Amino acid sequence: MRVATVEQLLDVLDGRFEGGSDLTRRGAVDPWQQIFTRTDHPLNSNLPDVNLLDWRAAGLLSGGEGLTALDIGCGLGRNTRWLAGQGYRATGVDLSAFAVRQARQRIVEAEATFLEGDFLRESMPGSSFDAVYDSGCFHHLPPHRRLSYLNALLACLKPGGLFGICTFAAGKMGSEVDDLTLFRQGKLEGGLGYSADDLREIFADLEPLDSRPLRPLQSADEPAFTVDFLSAALFRRPL
Ligand SMILES: C[S@@+](CC[C@H](N)C(=O)[O-])C[C@H]1O[C@@H](n2cnc3c(N)ncnc32)[C@H](O)[C@@H]1O
Repeated sequence: MRVATVEQLLDVLDGRFEGGSDLTRRGAVDPWQQIFTRTDHPLNSNLPDVNLLDWRAAGLLSGGEGLTALDIGCGLGRNTRWLAGQGYRATGVDLSAFAVRQARQRIVEAEATFLEGDFLRESMPGSSFDAVYDSGCFHHLPPHRRLSYLNALLACLKPGGLFGICTFAAGKMGSEVDDLTLFRQGKLEGGLGYSADDLREIFADLEPLDSRPLRPLQSADEPAFTVDFLSAALFRRPL
């Protein structure tokens, strides 16, 4: 094959990470099923990320009446459900058929739509969203797929819309190996750590509104998810 399009180049680069280290494309087995069936896994939770609650309380994230939201890599749907509970018409998309089935079963108190799909390679139905959120998907991408992610994000986020993201915090979790080394070694080391500056640089088309490490819970019964190795950032797409 001779590369003639950007998509073909990205496909060729995907080949560097064959062998199971890339958790962001379909393969013969679904690695996420193994993760989500572990009852002791932190993501096997029904609680929303604590930063979502804080953004809502600070007025950075509005109530969702009449608005739409997309949760990229929604997993078992804990953040999609919270967005729906705030009034958003919320859609969760995930590569894992297992996760999507589970997410649909876990819906109890709010309406949300869950779709099995590849955010990087398939266009999202419902054209454009007022808010897009990603907790834990982006940090698993191989470096070249950040470009696919950005294109997909800009294709589905409305001008003036909000984009929130939660990733491994550089220095606390995730690989800090540079991109060239990642390509050379063909391994993603379980995900990449990102600093607030990294995210501002990558999402330079968007206006930064906030960035924060996930804080500890205020009390044991606060209805939120947190771990000390994640941090979150919020952006707005300029009009
Ligand atoms: C670390 S899990 C996070 C799940 C969920 N957001 C949460 O925080 O509970 C990452 C999720 O991203 C999904 N994912 C990975 N690549 C994807 C892609 N290309 N398109 C859609 N979902 C993807 C995985 O299937 C997995 O459910």
